[in-house]
Amino acid sequence: MRASLLLLAPLVGASVLRPRSDTAACPGYKALNVKEGGASLTADLVLNGPPCNVYGEDLQDLKLLVEYQTSDRLHVMIYDSDEEVYQVPESVLPRPHPNGNRYKDHNLRFDYQPDPFSLRVLRDVDGNEEVLFDTTDTDIIFESQYLKLRTWLPANPNLYGLGEHSDPLRLPTTNYTRTLWNRDAYSIPSETNLYGDHPVYVDHRGDAGTHGVFFVNSNGMDIKIDKTYDGRQFLEYNTIGGVLDLYFMAGPTPKEVSKQYAEVVGLPAMQSYWTFGFQQCRYGYRDIYAVAEVVYNYSQAGIPLETMWTDIDYMDRRRVFTLDPLRFPLDKVRELVRYLHSHDQKYIMMVDPAVSLSDNGAFNRGNEMDIFLRENETTLYKGVVWPGVTVFPDWFHPDIQTYWNGEFARFFNPDNGVDIDGLWIDMNEAANFCPYPCNNPAIWAAKNGMPPTPPPVREPPRPLPGFPEDFQPDSTSSKRWYGKQRRSTGQKLGLPDRALISPPYRIHNAAGSLSMNTIETDIKHAGEGYMEYDTHNLYGTMMSSTSREAMLSRRPEVRPFVITRSTFAGAGAHVGHWLGDNLSEWGKYRVSIAQMLAFASMFQVPMVGSDVCGFGGDTNEELCARWAMLGAFQPFYRNHNELGYRPQEFYRWPSVAAAARKVINIRYRLLDYLYTAFYRQSQTGEPFLQPMFYVYPNDPNTFSKDLQFFYGDALLISPVQDKGQTSVDAYFPDDLFYDWYTGKAVHGHGANMTLTNIGITEIPIHIRGGSVIPLRSEGAMTTTELRQRGFEILIAPDMNGYAAGELYLDDGESLHPASTSMIEFEYCDGKLHVRGKFGYHADVTIESVTLLGQKGATAHRDGQTKQVDVELTGPVVINL
Ligand code: GLC
Repeated sequence: MRASLLLLAPLVGASVLRPRSDTAACPGYKALNVKEGGASLTADLVLNGPPCNVYGEDLQDLKLLVEYQTSDRLHVMIYDSDEEVYQVPESVLPRPHPNGNRYKDHNLRFDYQPDPFSLRVLRDVDGNEEVLFDTTDTDIIFESQYLKLRTWLPANPNLYGLGEHSDPLRLPTTNYTRTLWNRDAYSIPSETNLYGDHPVYVDHRGDAGTHGVFFVNSNGMDIKIDKTYDGRQFLEYNTIGGVLDLYFMAGPTPKEVSKQYAEVVGLPAMQSYWTFGFQQCRYGYRDIYAVAEVVYNYSQAGIPLETMWTDIDYMDRRRVFTLDPLRFPLDKVRELVRYLHSHDQKYIMMVDPAVSLSDNGAFNRGNEMDIFLRENETTLYKGVVWPGVTVFPDWFHPDIQTYWNGEFARFFNPDNGVDIDGLWIDMNEAANFCPYPCNNPAIWAAKNGMPPTPPPVREPPRPLPGFPEDFQPDSTSSKRWYGKQRRSTGQKLGLPDRALISPPYRIHNAAGSLSMNTIETDIKHAGEGYMEYDTHNLYGTMMSSTSREAMLSRRPEVRPFVITRSTFAGAGAHVGHWLGDNLSEWGKYRVSIAQMLAFASMFQVPMVGSDVCGFGGDTNEELCARWAMLGAFQPFYRNHNELGYRPQEFYRWPSVAAAARKVINIRYRLLDYLYTAFYRQSQTGEPFLQPMFYVYPNDPNTFSKDLQFFYGDALLISPVQDKGQTSVDAYFPDDLFYDWYTGKAVHGHGANMTLTNIGITEIPIHIRGGSVIPLRSEGAMTTTELRQRGFEILIAPDMNGYAAGELYLDDGESLHPASTSMIEFEYCDGKLHVRGKFGYHADVTIESVTLLGQKGATAHRDGQTKQVDVELTGPVVINL
């Protein structure tokens, strides 16, 4: 009956009668036995007619659970009454449980129609209800391998999120599909699925507020954003498994949505102070000497280098937990690490999940513990990754943590192994070079040159001044070796009897079929017995949390620093993320801004950044200089480059070196400002790095901006956008700003201003009126040195002469610091008030105060106190 109603519905302005969708004939469900409690509602949902069986069989009996979890969060779940269908395990993503708040105290309201069942979520805005989510007149489909849920949206919505992707920050609204199925996405093509899965969107409606919707589902899916033939805007989930599990976050500001999301997926992990220093990496450092040479060259060039990285180059035939005995002998690696540590620098190495199927310790021990994925009882599941034929750890295995800790304790042993300070994990989508069906991995590996031939062993080296005798600079190290090498571009819980390899609904996976270039989706995991089909998108995040624990097992007191490629919602609680294999192109430089903004603010993975200067392809001087400057405003700031392409360390070009020196100095002056804001996010979820609309949510001009951004609340960054340009059309909201370099006031009028003469070593930075920023003094070469520098307090008053800011201090690395300071600065009526908690003794002082926009502003005074009111007329020194 319902179906015919839909077909005959009046079509305003349309002369041709067309069905609304290919699934319009589905019966939907009827709500029975509805029970309302104080803060919850439950019902039975029964199929409301003959099944439509579009991609399998419709489930007859479902259940509805609605929970008013907090005043700003509503949980709506539709699941099978037998509870057999896969759900995202709480062990991977723990979810909050209701605190028993009363129904009526909520800013959100759940509304429903029983027959056919449809739901709406509404928010009360000043007495007016705003419909946030509305499934009226749509078919809810719930089958074993296909679920569909559509919500109507207002015309021209401002939607963000649904990553990982490389599309504009504000998502297209017509004929747009976001596919979520993690894959090794070399070159990060737009409009495709990339490495991570974050099924959360932010819907920003300007004056009508902002809300968020998080779909807790790890199955492959297509989320379609489109209009019906008669122009109605919708967003539609099409997922190939799991249940309909939704969290609605009321906002009503973008920042509130981000905070409310963090309450669901977890607060991001706090990082150590040093992790915000500049980091250098590349794929293709042929030996330990080449790595040492880079360290040396940075120091010679006077460019602060905090952390040196080593890619898979260090491994013996690309096998994890091994060292190449000729190119990266243990004694030399330990010598270099000692050298770095004695110079207050850090060392990071990569670990991939895939373990070489060969006679090696990591394989033998893992095999003994039976922790690798199996095809069946007798056969291990095999693929091909860097070392050739590999097996894959099963992160669901009950003993996996013991195994992983053991490998870390051995290989990364500070006393007799490689004493890393941080960890880089990669290829954890998981990536498998061997295309599906990978019937003979050994043959495929041999044909495709895996593992690649290592470079020849080098001549005895000439010494580098200040370095151990046998480290040498080598002009040939920049030459290509291995030749150009390309990745192959070619490309088993839940209900029984599912088609786990080729499900009836085919998501738009850019790799092709579900199992293409990854672990086969019919593989069963140990423990509970989850199928890879359901948990594929969790692989990277499970490796992340296991690796974080392994790092903690080595150094339980210190915040683990782990950077991963593949992520699922909630990953930020464990790790940071780099944006994967971009290219040395202006387009990738530009899109990195939108990508990092989405991760940092909407997905709660604030430790994020792109490969600076670009990974694949040859970079060039101009692009690298501009990216060095943009990168200085990424939380995670690392130069990384692919094997076989032109070297791109910042010292390779005078202009890039100059740009790097200048901008790293600015980054370091601002490091405590960054650290403070990052700390706040780790405590409250309040995002540090923000799109412009987060700071100006009522200014429609900001809604689409993704080439400018806020670094903390106080700094607007407007990078040069393209090749050959020395100007940028920057948007300034109706507010007061100050030029970072000159301190000159810039009055924004809600329009673009062309900023001109932006030299190759400059990046436009504007301070937002109303900010107080703690700055360290100039010139530190490492963050250790920086922490010994005093502060300058920079006051940038707003139009009413008011400004505020804060400074968080601790020892910079303890997981649970013994003492902390949170100092608040407030400037009003011509006085600076300094108050707060002064628990941590930084042994430095506030050396000066600078007031922008006024004359005679710098002042000093003595005193160590918990409250200092500074008349800005005389000198001041405040001990911290
Ligand atoms: C992957 C990573 C890249 C790394 C390379 C070699 O492509 O994304 O960063 O350099 O593998 O390990």
